[in-house]
Amino acid sequence: GNIRKEMPKGFLWGASTSAYQVEGAAEEDGKKLSQMDVLNRGTGFADASVASDHYHRYKEDIALMKECGFTAYRFSFSWSRIFPDGVGEANPKGLEFYDNLVDELVKNGIRPVPTIYHYDMPMALVEKYDGWVSRQSVDDFVAYGEFLIRRYGDRIKDWLIINEQSIIVEFWKKKNYVPEKYHGDPQVKFQINHHMNLGQAKLSKRIHELVEGGRSGAAIGYSPVYGLDSTPKNMLAMLNAEDLKNHFFLDIYFKGKYPAGAFRYLEEHGMAPVMEAGDMDIIREGKLDFLGVNYYASKCVRFPDADKNELTEAKSNLSGRKGAMGAYEVMPDFYQYMKNPNADTNDWDWTIDPTGMQYLLRDIYERYEIPMIITENGLGARDVLEDGKVHDDYRIDYWSRHLQAIHRAIELGVDVRGFLPWSFVDVLSTSNGYQKRYGLVYVNRDDEDIKDLARIPKDSFYWYQKVIATNGAHC
Ligand code: BG6
Repeated sequence: GNIRKEMPKGFLWGASTSAYQVEGAAEEDGKKLSQMDVLNRGTGFADASVASDHYHRYKEDIALMKECGFTAYRFSFSWSRIFPDGVGEANPKGLEFYDNLVDELVKNGIRPVPTIYHYDMPMALVEKYDGWVSRQSVDDFVAYGEFLIRRYGDRIKDWLIINEQSIIVEFWKKKNYVPEKYHGDPQVKFQINHHMNLGQAKLSKRIHELVEGGRSGAAIGYSPVYGLDSTPKNMLAMLNAEDLKNHFFLDIYFKGKYPAGAFRYLEEHGMAPVMEAGDMDIIREGKLDFLGVNYYASKCVRFPDADKNELTEAKSNLSGRKGAMGAYEVMPDFYQYMKNPNADTNDWDWTIDPTGMQYLLRDIYERYEIPMIITENGLGARDVLEDGKVHDDYRIDYWSRHLQAIHRAIELGVDVRGFLPWSFVDVLSTSNGYQKRYGLVYVNRDDEDIKDLARIPKDSFYWYQKVIATNGAHC
């Protein structure tokens, strides 16, 4: 592929990771467990105790970012590394790690773009009050986030507050350690969501108050939804799913309200969140400035069969466990996910759809008129290390086609300011451990054997180096 034209001046180039997927050192230097450390055990895949050992190798990793030409890097702070018990005293050793990480990035001319919360609620707060299920989580989250923005606000201006709230809601029992007693009650997932909305809005306001030139954002897990065909019912299902899966989050972030239709649907089915007086004021006052877009795959829906009119839990058809985009959720009288018969897929049944990138960027921009950064995009694959090399031409092809779609969206007027794909080094995939790899840089380990954890740039790394050097012209 070839864009031939450059991205706009100042366009950010880099990649992304998250704390528990890359750091390791899960119980080192005072860090206590997060819910992801616990949820990952017993999956049959690697756990988070070593992950990609970034905690000990961040300098080597930043040197590789520099070699590739990065101007930005997205990482996440681990709440339980900073506040091992979720609240109370900060852990000096944990802070030292992030101080060093941020300083090393800045020293190398790489802009830190942090996420405050990437799935990893401290286990201490899960044990204390069931984590996000309790409204107490809002205040504790704001205290944690405010601590970060006070400490790093001089060096960090762009703040992503919550990662993939949409995915946290869809997979609410896999992305949260939710006690059994709630498992049969789908209202709880919308209550969790409401608490996250409040926490994020309050922090957005704090960023505006406390950080000079600070900008608040969120990284949303976003899939444009296509109707199966042009039958009116299936087109309606598409509209319903767009409202409940996409606008349900973005309307909160950028309009300060829930979309009326989707909210009414939840009320009709006893799933609407319980609110307190003043909640919507908090949300209105905490609107975000920009959106991080995590895009992997589009989705497809039809109107649900009347005879299967029950609420079905999302389940994967291929892996038998969470295959995020292979999930078939049914919302009675609203929509039902299904496999798109007209799209390619990867080994885990996720749609490969570069056109969807142009589609969503234009759609979001016309609806909200906000700046966007691509904060995740990537291809999970079973990479093979051969003679010290990884020939991941399939990943180069994937990114190349997505970059061309981004470029076209920019030509058509959309405000996209950077590309931070998933992932920098190989990370612990949330659903498939180290079998499914995303990195520009191979990490020499697998699920069973942590080997020497050596860093080996893949072919895509050298391709991306050229892309960055030409500001996108070579791609
Ligand atoms: C997003 C997450 O869901 O997609 C990442 O923000 C995750 O944490 C990525 O790794 C890919 O998903 P998975 O399940 O293949 O790791």
